[in-house]
Parts: sequence; structure tokens; C-alpha cells
Amino acid sequence: MKLWSKGFEPDKMIERFTVGNDRELDLRLARYDVQGSMAHIRMLESIGLLGKDELDKLLKALGEIAEVIERGEFVIEDGVEDVHSEVEFMLTARLGDIGKKIHSGRSRNDQVLVDLKLFMRDEIKHIAGSVSRLFDRLQALSEEHKDKLMPGYTHLQVAMPSSFGLWFGAYAESLVDDMRMLAAAYDVANQNPLGSAAGYGSSFPLDREMTTRLLVFDTMHYNVVAAQMSRGKTERAVSMAVASIASTLAHLAMDVCMWMCGNFGFVSFPDELTTGSSIMPHKKNPDVFEIMRGKCNRLQSVPNEIALLTANLPLGYNRDLQLLKDIMFPATTELIECLDMAEFMLAHIRVNDSIVDDPRYDYLFTVEEVNRLVLEGMPFRDAYRKVGLEVRDGSYRPNRSVDHTHAGSIGNLCNEQIADKFRSLLSRIM
Ligand code: ARG
Repeated sequence: MKLWSKGFEPDKMIERFTVGNDRELDLRLARYDVQGSMAHIRMLESIGLLGKDELDKLLKALGEIAEVIERGEFVIEDGVEDVHSEVEFMLTARLGDIGKKIHSGRSRNDQVLVDLKLFMRDEIKHIAGSVSRLFDRLQALSEEHKDKLMPGYTHLQVAMPSSFGLWFGAYAESLVDDMRMLAAAYDVANQNPLGSAAGYGSSFPLDREMTTRLLVFDTMHYNVVAAQMSRGKTERAVSMAVASIASTLAHLAMDVCMWMCGNFGFVSFPDELTTGSSIMPHKKNPDVFEIMRGKCNRLQSVPNEIALLTANLPLGYNRDLQLLKDIMFPATTELIECLDMAEFMLAHIRVNDSIVDDPRYDYLFTVEEVNRLVLEGMPFRDAYRKVGLEVRDGSYRPNRSVDHTHAGSIGNLCNEQIADKFRSLLSRIM
């Protein structure tokens, strides 16, 4: 049965093709659909389109449906097209004609828009929570290992001393910039589209300020066409933040894969967190970080997928938009899984705290030597040449003590300042 049924049923093949897996994806929207409907009917009552007793009955029935959803027992029955239809059918089954009144002044285009805004707002909060836990872990590791040096590379060649504190802290600060993107996506998502109806507004005097307040949106999309256009645009903003976080994680995963390799041996994990080989008995593989790298690299294609799906769509609602759920829903779930896995793994990471004592890292310290000579009064170019010649004739002997003091360097990580930046962005979302 269809909400739009007018005496004939559509061809089954057409139905399968147009609905696809939308009913399954819509289950994630159910609780938001009920929230949106509750706000909508309160507003309808306030403008005289529902009686007070009708409103009370509808709110009670919607409250019961919300409980079914929270218990995980909500289903979209066979033959019912989507979550919006299911909720309306449930109301009509319980309340008869009153249930049929709820749709005045709105359209499913409107409903799905508001559901998605509420869904993405929550999803962004979940992502922010997971980013925040990973951020805290990285900062704690940075502090814990701040005095342990590690080799720094450029061009994959031994370059200058780095430290585990600098490395962990770098990913923490990198997440700060991802949080800027996430906070911006939150602002885009946090606007009420409800009242755009099919996309062009309604002749009912809808009180959109009221639904904005009731759904605790920061503001509304005033122009009803802009509200409809926000479908796709909101997803794009969220996906850009997702991709940004994913790129940070993929990078981190690559470092770990490389540094777990025996040729580096900078970090290791307890055996039970590594994976084995079916033929080589000695193997301790970094599959977790390889899967993370792969997933996070793939997640970086999501903004592109959305851009292609929505490129050159005509103004107004088009059914193509339904497919956004297919891209967006698995993406946020996968990102959260990767973030939580990274945090879990890092809780068990072990660092090799004497790695720079290995003679293969002797040349890490040449610049330190040049700088020491400069501080003693030798012009930089002369000092550079002196140390260079020592390297060439084999007389160079490293002095492994490192004294970096400027902001953001090995000896002065500024983790507190980085945490301040992070917290102020987090507070925009949570
Ligand atoms: N499943 C649809 C979607 O996600 C719901 C809106 C349907 N609107 C319509 N005019 N067919 O877009």
C-alpha cells in the first residue's frame, strides 16, 4: 500500500527498483521521523489545524511508536515504501481519521529532509565523541613519550631527530583541523528545513519559528527552495569532514604499518592485536592498520561520489537524492569504527625508546652539530661545510643530545595550547 495510492498498485519490478534498499536505510531515520512529526503536529495545533485533544492523542501514539523504535522493534512492513509511510500507517491504524490529519502542510520530501538533518546532527556528535577520545589518547601518549627520540625522515631518508611526543602530538593537532571541518558541517546540518513541504512551501500559515525551536535547530533554512537544495549540500559538508578525518587516520595507519616493520621497529603491539600468516610462522602483521588505511582511503572518495550523484540535478526534489543515504550512512558508521579502533590499538602501543641509539641513525644529529657550532659563533655556512666534510671523510661522531625549545618543537610540545583549540571546537558541537 502507498500513501499516494489512487486505486492502482505500481508494477512490482518498478517498485523494487525505485525502493531498493531504502527501507533498510530508513530504519536509521525512524526516531528522527517521529521527532519531526511531533514538532510538526504541535505546530499544526498552534495554527488551528488540529484540536488539542487530537494533538494529545497523536503525541501519545507517536510516543508509543518512539518506544517501539528505541526497543529496536520497529519494522517497515512488507509493501510499505518508507519510514514516513510506516509511521503514518501506524498512526492511522491506532487512531483512525486523526492519523490521516498529520500530513497537512508537509510532504515526504520535507520529512526526509528534516529527518536527515536531525540524523546528521546526531551522527556528527557521535563522530566528534570518537574523535575526542582519540585526541585525548594521542595527547596522553605524546606527554608520556615526550622525552623519547625517534628518527625523523624527509624523502624517506634519515633527516633530523623527532620524538614520539612530537609524532603522537602531531596527529592530535591534525585532528583539530578536522574538527574545524566537522564544526562547519554541524552548522550546515543544524538548520531547520521543515516547512518547505514538497519544496515550494504551503498555503497553510506554518509557524516555522516554532518547529525550529521545538527541534532545537540553531536557525532555519528560510527560503523553502534553499531548504530543499540543502539535501545533498548537507551531506556534502558532512562527507568533507568525514574525508578530512579519514585522511588523518589513513596517514596515521600508514606510519604504524611502516614502523611496525622489522626494518624500522619503532613501535609494536601485543601479539593478540596482530595477525598471523597461514604459511610463515613468525609473522605478526599489522592487518588492523592496513584495513584502517584502506577504509579511510576509500572514505575520501565519499565527497566525490556525492558531487557526482548531485551534479546538475534540476532544482527541486528529484528521486536521485534518495541514493545519498546509501553513500552517507555506511560512511559515518565506518569512520566511527575506524576512529574507535585506532583509539583501542593506540591504548596498547609500545614504543622503542632506544631506537635512535642504533648507528644507522647517526646522521640524524648532523644539524644539531651545525647549530651548536653556530651558537659558538661560527657562521652557518662554514659550520654546515665543516660537519659535511666530517661526514664525508668518516670522522663525524654524533652527539645525541637534543635541545629544542621553541613552540611546537620536541622540547616544547604545546599540548595544552593544542587541547585548548580542540576543546573550543568541540564545544561548538557537544
Ligand atoms: N525515500 C524518499 C527519499 O529518500 C522519500 C521521499 C519521497 N518523495 C517522493 N516524492 N517520492 O527521497
